[in-house]
Amino acid sequence: MASGPSPRVGVAIPAAGQGRRMGGRKKPFLTLAGEPLLVHALRPFLALEQVRHVVVAVSEEDLEEARGWVPALDSRVTVVAGGTTRSDSVANAVQALPETVDLILVHDAARPLVSMGTVERCIEGASRGEGAVAGWPATDTLKEVDAQLRILRTPDRSGIWHAQTPQAFPATVLRRVLEDPDLRARATDDASLVEAAGIPVRMVHGEPDNLKVTRPEDLPVAEFLLARRRAGDEPARAAGEGG
Ligand code: CTP
Ligand code: MG
Repeated sequence: MASGPSPRVGVAIPAAGQGRRMGGRKKPFLTLAGEPLLVHALRPFLALEQVRHVVVAVSEEDLEEARGWVPALDSRVTVVAGGTTRSDSVANAVQALPETVDLILVHDAARPLVSMGTVERCIEGASRGEGAVAGWPATDTLKEVDAQLRILRTPDRSGIWHAQTPQAFPATVLRRVLEDPDLRARATDDASLVEAAGIPVRMVHGEPDNLKVTRPEDLPVAEFLLARRRAGDEPARAAGEGG
């Protein structure tokens, strides 16, 4: 962490999706290795004392049930209703965070494999007054194609990264960009809103196994990766590896 007092961190967790690609099963509430996926996704944040508040946005119909057990996980956690789009859910969660937080991290409830190291690197990045996005350099060769799938180009992948979450921002910056509903409707992630506002955003090394559980076949993979992590036998991975 850079010098100076440690920043007060707020976390916004969008968990209000419908899980359509999962066959209509809401991913944050699916059981993975004996616990709801949401619990796995929250754990590394709750392990950090800089994290002062966590707001989880769930869909309206799940609000009552989630309020029955999610805040009991930790006194810093509250639950609000999400919105129609992911950005709307993020905006609702961010709005419910106290004004006193310096930085806001956004993390998908559907990513149960986020590590504490990745969270810390994001906090460190945003502490410098920029956006910080966890991700990993692309490893597959990329092809740009036309409507008939004819290859038009093989872009140089050396500057291409996959963006994951967490994504971290100075609180004032994120609050400001989320105010614009048109911008929000077009953005595919939170960083792109901040980029569009002309504020520097940098990638930070996440981990390639920080997968977003999306389809049923992702569940056994996530379960395997969690078990490996718990056993503490993850392969050592130097930052920058991945080529
Ligand atoms: N999300 C949200 N509010 C929405 C849509 C999505 O909070 N209106 C959340 C999801 O719960 C998830 C994250 O955003 O944690 C990433 O979204 P995605 O993986 O697309 O999840 P779903 O939207 O639930 O899945 P699908 O697109 O297959 O329906
Ligand atoms: Mg979705």
